[in-house]
Amino acid sequence: MNNVKAASSGNGTPAIQKDVNFTPHKMISFRTFLQPDPTYYFGNDIIEYLGGLIKNEAVDKVFFVTNDVLAKLYAGEITEVFRTNSIPYTVITVKDSERDKNFSNLEWLCDTLVDKFVTKGSVIIGFGGGCLTNIVGLAAGLIFRGIRYIEMPTTFMGVTDSCLSNKQAVNGAFGKNQYGMYRAPIFIFGDTKYLQTESLSGRKSAIAEGIKNAFINNAALLPYYENKLDNCDLNNLDPMTLTDLAYNVIRSKLAILKQDPSEKHFAVALEYGHTFGHAIEFFSGGSIPHGIAVAKGMCIAAEISHRLGYMSREEADKHYRLFGEKLRLDLKLPENISVDDIMNTILADNKKTVKGVKYVILEKIGVCLNPDGDYQICVDEELVRDVLSEQNEIVEKKLNKVTSKSA
Ligand SMILES: NC(=O)c1ccc[n+]([C@@H]2O[C@H](COP(=O)([O-])OP(=O)(O)OC[C@H]3O[C@@H](n4cnc5c(N)ncnc54)[C@H](O)[C@@H]3O)[C@@H](O)[C@H]2O)c1
Ligand SMILES: [Zn+2]
Repeated sequence: MNNVKAASSGNGTPAIQKDVNFTPHKMISFRTFLQPDPTYYFGNDIIEYLGGLIKNEAVDKVFFVTNDVLAKLYAGEITEVFRTNSIPYTVITVKDSERDKNFSNLEWLCDTLVDKFVTKGSVIIGFGGGCLTNIVGLAAGLIFRGIRYIEMPTTFMGVTDSCLSNKQAVNGAFGKNQYGMYRAPIFIFGDTKYLQTESLSGRKSAIAEGIKNAFINNAALLPYYENKLDNCDLNNLDPMTLTDLAYNVIRSKLAILKQDPSEKHFAVALEYGHTFGHAIEFFSGGSIPHGIAVAKGMCIAAEISHRLGYMSREEADKHYRLFGEKLRLDLKLPENISVDDIMNTILADNKKTVKGVKYVILEKIGVCLNPDGDYQICVDEELVRDVLSEQNEIVEKKLNKVTSKSA
C-alpha cells in the first residue's frame, strides 16, 4: 500500500517513540497484539485509505453507525468515500451517552440493523467514542452469532485505549460493563483528525489512562507526561502534536498487551483504579468521564497501597501531582456518592470473587502486586471503607499544598 509505513512494536519498545514523523495523510499500521489481533491503521487526515481497506474485505454492504452530532460533522465526507468506491452503505445514528450504554439501546440497534437487511456478508462500522464502539462492537458480536466489524474511534480515549481491547460491553442496572463479550474488529482505523472536535474533559480523561499505563508498567514515562502537560495547552493542540501524543499513549498500552494479549493475566493491571472508577462513573450517570473517574480511583488505590505498607508517601503523592497539579483534574469524590454507594457497586463488579473483591494494587510505581499470579489482591473491606471516607480530606490537603506552593 502506498505511503503506508509499518511501525513495528517489537521487542525492546522504546519508552518514547521518536522515529515516526507524523505529517497529514501519512498512515502507519501496526499490530495490536490482541487475540485476535486486528491491524491498526493510524494517522492524521487519512480518510483516502479507507475505501481501499474496506474493498479488500469483500463486503456486500457497509452499515455506518454513529451518533447525530458526529453524523452532522463527518458522515458527509465518509459516505463520499463509500460512493466513490462503489460500496453500498446505510447510515444509522444511535444514542451513545454512558446512560445509553445499556441493553435496550443495544437491542434497538440490533433490531434496526436486521430491519435494514444486514447480512452475514455485511460489515458494521462503529464511528464514535468508547461508549458507541462498545455498543456497536457488541451488536456485531451478537447479530447472526457474529458479523464483521470495523472500529473507527473518534475520541482520544477511543484511539488510544478502548480500541486496544477486544472487550465489548453494555452496563447493567447495578454497574458498568456487566454484559458483554470479547469481539475483535477486522481492523481499526484511527484518524486523529476527528479528535479536534472532542471536549477538553474527554481528552484529559484519556490522558489519565495514558498516565495509568506509566504507573503500572513504565515509570520512565512519567517525566514525558509531566513535560507535555507543562508545555502544551491541551485545549489547543496542533494536529501533529495531538497525533504524536496519541501515538505515545498507544505505544504505552501496546507494551502491556504484548506481555499478555489475552487481557487476562498481566494486562489485568490495566484495570488499575477501575474498580473504584467504575463505581464513581456509574453513580455519576456518566457525568464524570471514564478516565477522570479512574484517576480518582487510582488515588484511592494508591492510598490503600500506602496503608498496606507498600507504596511510599512520596509515590502515592505522585498520583496527586500528575492528575491534580499537572492534568488539573478534580480528584475529590462527589459529595452525593456515599461510601456505601461505592461499596455496594463494587460488590456487583466483575472483580468480586468468593474470597472477596480483588483490586489492582501497585507495590510501587511501575510494579503491580501479584502474590497469586493474577495481578489483583483481596483487601480488607474495613480498610477500603476507611480510605474512602477519608479520601476527600486527603485530596484537599494535597491540593492546598500545591496552591500554597504556587501562591
Ligand atoms: N473496552 C475497553 O477496554 C474500554 C477501554 C476504555 C474505555 N471504555 C469505555 O469507553 C467509554 C468512554 O469512552 P470515551 O471516553 O470515548 O467517551 P464517550 O464515548 O462517552 O464520548 C463522550 C462524548 O463525546 C462525543 N464525541 C465522540 N467523539 C467526538 C468527536 N470527535 N467530536 C465531538 N464529540 C465527540 C460522544 O458522542 C459523547 O457525547 C466508557 O463507557 C468506558 O467504559 C472501554
Ligand atoms: Zn479505562
